[in-house]
Amino acid sequence: MDWNLEILEKNLAGKPFGQKLYYYPVTGSTNDEAFRLGVAGALEGTIVIADSQTKGKGRLQRVWHSPAGTNIYTSIILRPQFEVARAPQISIAAGVAVAEVLEKYCSGKIQLKWPNDVLLNGKKICGILAQVKTNVCGIDFIVLGIGINVNIDYNQFPEDIRNLATSLSIETDREISRRELIIRLYENLAKWYKKLIADGFSAVKEKWLSMAPMIGQRVQIMSGDEVISGKALGIDEQGSLVLLTAEDGKIKIFAGDATILKEIQKNVAGN
Ligand code: BTN
Repeated sequence: MDWNLEILEKNLAGKPFGQKLYYYPVTGSTNDEAFRLGVAGALEGTIVIADSQTKGKGRLQRVWHSPAGTNIYTSIILRPQFEVARAPQISIAAGVAVAEVLEKYCSGKIQLKWPNDVLLNGKKICGILAQVKTNVCGIDFIVLGIGINVNIDYNQFPEDIRNLATSLSIETDREISRRELIIRLYENLAKWYKKLIADGFSAVKEKWLSMAPMIGQRVQIMSGDEVISGKALGIDEQGSLVLLTAEDGKIKIFAGDATILKEIQKNVAGN
């Protein structure tokens, strides 16, 4: 076991985030746990970490596969003093922070996929799930949940995602210290969060765009029952994808799953 509460507390001492830390060998979902703590008034920067989750939650009501002893499952409580519409900027900043840290661990290609997946060599290595609690003044708190595939093997992934997901150890052929990675992650998240609060969205957005290969490409978005295609022009101040479509011109998409059309065609041709 490369971490426990005592080790993590020691490593986070004096750092901007994690002055209050909750560690669980098993929990339902670190997001649910953090949400409960947020409602009870937990301070900004409170972190929840689990070795495994029994009800790991993904975007769009999906399950996040969360076996023990291999990966990072963590959530942090943030209390940004800005309007609710800007809440998605937090997940975008988190994607940038994770991507920048993962780049230091491997020579493979780290990329961002809208809305906030991190890919390594074209496969998903990290998912981010933000949940917002509002009050009459705006944002009460945001729970930012981050799942990173660290040492999980190919065969440990459920069959349906085996060819879509990857981990640091699969791509680098070595075991990675989760303790070291999570400390670097929270240091870098603090850096980008501070920048977002102090200077606004532009630097975060610029960095995100520089790591997102789908921008400028023709993409297909699955949004609920709808399939929309067009050219991805960028993201707006709310983190929505700006798409140029043949039917409706420029539109904004708030949520969905995006794929570059060339990749869909390549997969069809390869089958
Ligand atoms: C996605 O679907 O891409 C988002 C996945 C987010 C998973 C993380 S793991 C830690 C936190 N707790 C959860 O239940 N989900 C998030």
